[in-house]
Amino acid sequence: MDVISVIRTKRDKGELSPEQIDWVIDAYTRGVVADEQMSALAMAILLNGMNRTEIARWTAAMIASGERMNFDALSRPTADKHSTGGVGDKITLPLAPLVAACGAAVPQLSGRGLGHTGGTLDKLESIPGWRALLSNEEMLHVLDTTGAVICAAGDGLAPADKKLYALRDVTGTVEAIPLIASSIMSKKIAEGTGSLVLDVKVGTGAFMKNIEDARELARTMVGLGTDSGVKTVALLTDMSTPLGLTAGNALEVRESVEVLAGGGPKDVVDLTIALAAEMLAAAGIKDADPAKALADGSAMDVWRRMIAAQGGDPDATLPVAREQHVVTAPSTGVLTRLDAYDIGIAAWRLGAGRARKEDPVQAGAGVELHAKPGDTVTAGQPLLTLHTDTPEKFDYALKSLSEAWDIAPEGTAFTPNPIVLDRIA
Ligand code: URA
Repeated sequence: MDVISVIRTKRDKGELSPEQIDWVIDAYTRGVVADEQMSALAMAILLNGMNRTEIARWTAAMIASGERMNFDALSRPTADKHSTGGVGDKITLPLAPLVAACGAAVPQLSGRGLGHTGGTLDKLESIPGWRALLSNEEMLHVLDTTGAVICAAGDGLAPADKKLYALRDVTGTVEAIPLIASSIMSKKIAEGTGSLVLDVKVGTGAFMKNIEDARELARTMVGLGTDSGVKTVALLTDMSTPLGLTAGNALEVRESVEVLAGGGPKDVVDLTIALAAEMLAAAGIKDADPAKALADGSAMDVWRRMIAAQGGDPDATLPVAREQHVVTAPSTGVLTRLDAYDIGIAAWRLGAGRARKEDPVQAGAGVELHAKPGDTVTAGQPLLTLHTDTPEKFDYALKSLSEAWDIAPEGTAFTPNPIVLDRIA
């Protein structure tokens, strides 16, 4: 095998053979294929695509690059959820303990934020003492004793994807459906979950800007999971506006705790319950009522045990940013658009996100929303509050908000998008 012939095959719109795929993934993981060669191949894949056979083999080769976990010893069925990423997407925080409270084991290997999308681990790290890095034994122990664990994936899980994802991130090759699908599913299949619910985000704040691309990504991932024996279902959900009323690490933890306490914004509650119902059905758990488990405090009990088992103090005061800046509505009328991407960029610029993997994040930074599309607003009322420890960033953040909303004349009829747009099984 030589890498140049593999690159040429895809550059010339050919089909990669199983042997070419196995070899190139293994050789790249071992450092025999160089980053610049893999970048050329990733760009050829982005431009010319891969068929289902190639994507399945590519995924299998990435799984084979590392270890596979196994949860067979647990007494409960396993159910996991993966979101393709969005703004204000804190759903994993209430969802994992909720589904555990209803009888499943939830091994939630999560990631950090990059660019305008937030990361679950960054959010949880704003809880004093909480640890994202667990050994496999610690992870199994937390899962077994509390029913849910949210932690970082170990280095041994799909190492080919770790290397390739970091490369794609700096070579403009993230947005390729075959590469996104194989990246996500290799980690989920290697993780060993019995069932998986995918939350495929659609809209300005998501990777997939339109519903057709999102359907294609969802169908590809559902096919990969099903073929590997993982019961997989996808919901396509709206990401044209941020989820809930907060985007930022500690701000989103606070909102998640409100949901676990039986309150919280309606869109966050509705999506949490919709995903919980899908996870429980996929895990074969009947007769559980996620709405009841939120209302009666049993999900909150699991949350408190899960946070404490990972070193966190569930009663600790969450960090608050040192400075705030209020943005007011310029006119009276109906808010018809509050753009997820623009809000995500503002939160990132305020310090909630990172530009490079190794950058620190500010726990208290982010954006708080005081209105959502469909609400009537009055000129001069607070629309957003920006939070940061570094007030010199306000101007830069405000620039990303210059076209972030539309306000239509009072009385304009407007129906916001439903949160769940489609389901692919
Ligand atoms: N998340 C992943 O894990 N991989 C991708 O390629 C995109 C999002």
